[in-house]
Amino acid sequence: MTIVEIKTKIYDDQKPGTSGLRKSVKVFQQEHYTENFIQAIFTALEDQITGSTLVVGGDGRYYGKEAVQKIIRIAAANGVRKLIVGQHGILSTPAVSNLIRKYKTLGGIVLTASHNPGGPNADFGIKFNCDNGGPAPDHMTNKIFNITKSLTSYKIIPELNVNIDIIQTNEIKLDNTFTVDVIDSVNDYVILMKEIFNFPIIKELLQERKFELLVDCLNGVTGPYAKCIFGKELGLNDTNIVHSIPLEDFGGLHPDPNLTYAKDLVETVRNGTYDMGVAFDGDGDRNMIIGKKALFVTPSDSLAILAANLNVIPYFKKNGIKGYARSMPTAAAVDQVAKLNNIECFEVPTGWKYFGNLMDAGRLSICGEESFGTGSDHIREKDGIWACLAWLNVIAELKKSIEEIQKDHWLKFGRNFFTRYDYENCELEKANKVMTEVETKILDPAFKGTKLCDGTKNYVVKHADNYSYTDLIDKSVATKQGLRILFEDGSRIIFRLSGTGSSGATIRLYIEAYETDQNILYNDAQEVLKPLINIALNLSKMQEHTNRDKPTVIT
Ligand code: G1P
Ligand code: ZN
Repeated sequence: MTIVEIKTKIYDDQKPGTSGLRKSVKVFQQEHYTENFIQAIFTALEDQITGSTLVVGGDGRYYGKEAVQKIIRIAAANGVRKLIVGQHGILSTPAVSNLIRKYKTLGGIVLTASHNPGGPNADFGIKFNCDNGGPAPDHMTNKIFNITKSLTSYKIIPELNVNIDIIQTNEIKLDNTFTVDVIDSVNDYVILMKEIFNFPIIKELLQERKFELLVDCLNGVTGPYAKCIFGKELGLNDTNIVHSIPLEDFGGLHPDPNLTYAKDLVETVRNGTYDMGVAFDGDGDRNMIIGKKALFVTPSDSLAILAANLNVIPYFKKNGIKGYARSMPTAAAVDQVAKLNNIECFEVPTGWKYFGNLMDAGRLSICGEESFGTGSDHIREKDGIWACLAWLNVIAELKKSIEEIQKDHWLKFGRNFFTRYDYENCELEKANKVMTEVETKILDPAFKGTKLCDGTKNYVVKHADNYSYTDLIDKSVATKQGLRILFEDGSRIIFRLSGTGSSGATIRLYIEAYETDQNILYNDAQEVLKPLINIALNLSKMQEHTNRDKPTVIT
């Protein structure tokens, strides 16, 4: 087998977004396209690549297996010593993060477009994670992008093919031995979960106390993990774990665990006797938690409630609680817990990569995003199954329903009402108009102190900016992370453009209000937030600029 150097052509669109390079499958299938990006990752790793070990796997979506073979061929040609590959190319994003940390590898390549639909006409993605198990930080993704812009060739062993469907160690004789270790996708992750949580008490909850749980894997990667953990380990009936075979096109589902795309689960729980429903996204890092009759727990509340109850989970009993964090648009419910418990709390830009440094520095134990991401410092990715187990562990210890736990929480800490409006697939030009409209208005120095009104409600602007963040640990700066309007009473309006889409533009509008008044505490969020929503829509001239009279998704 010989290494060949293939002359390539440059693609100028390989800039990684919020979470890796995400494009339609058709884009990745262009000649040299995937190869270029993989070579750029290896080139960016410089000398470290020689003799290194990397983890490779993905969410099982269409084109994943082909991409794994390309990675194998290019890795061998670039001097990588060993690849640890999930069987069938399957590894959830949290599982990759765990394997990188457990086996102390140089990093990993995750083949996923997360919650974006899959199939020949849908999306694919490639993401590089560093040796701490977390998504590559901006300086690394920028470096990779810069390399793609001047790449002239890539190194590959074209005839190398490894069977990734059989668990075995493949040793390929090159100058040195190149090893492809095809491993069970689930084992190491299950071991980790059993170290973190009190499995016996969760088992008792599900079996003896007959707590009814319904798990929906949305045909994504979590199926095998869920069957092993909730089924085999905790005794949940097979029939309570649905859509549990990873499919290349997710069976046509949009594998995003929210009220819109996981509506099967929501309807089944609403009409049934279930105590809890949970759904995960395509690559297993997101989660949605609902209680009896489909009572919705916002991800911001979910984070805060778990943060307030971490003391019942063995992992945190042992390691202590170092700090909390949330992404900027996430409602500040966890901040209230931090205040009362006197624990450090951080706000970072959107994207999991910003939590990593704080965790590595021992300052952060649990964090989350409003976009259905919750996780802790057990790995460096958000973790859907972890979040579900954390809830089960808390419920089992508190011996209360999700509704009671949520109500008690609001009574003690107040409630951060929150909603997000997504305007998906807008033309970029129209989306930019909305952003410019808002930016021009709010950055005007006179904007501070103005009173914005809707009906009888009015809000005084305390501060407005385009959010920028300086990393506490490495002092790197991320600018233009979202347009923020902060009001005197703690309410917030935020506008951001999505960084994970594969085409067009998605405008995200985030609205939040904090209430402690018991007469309002249990009201409907859309109702409570209506005045702020109206203010945001008027200020941005949303309808005029986008021709949309309503968002695609309301959360
Ligand atoms: C979205 C979410 C963000 C999350 C990311 C990856 O990014 O908003 O919180 O980290 O997906 O799952 P966005 O499309 O908003 O850039
Ligand atoms: Zn995901």
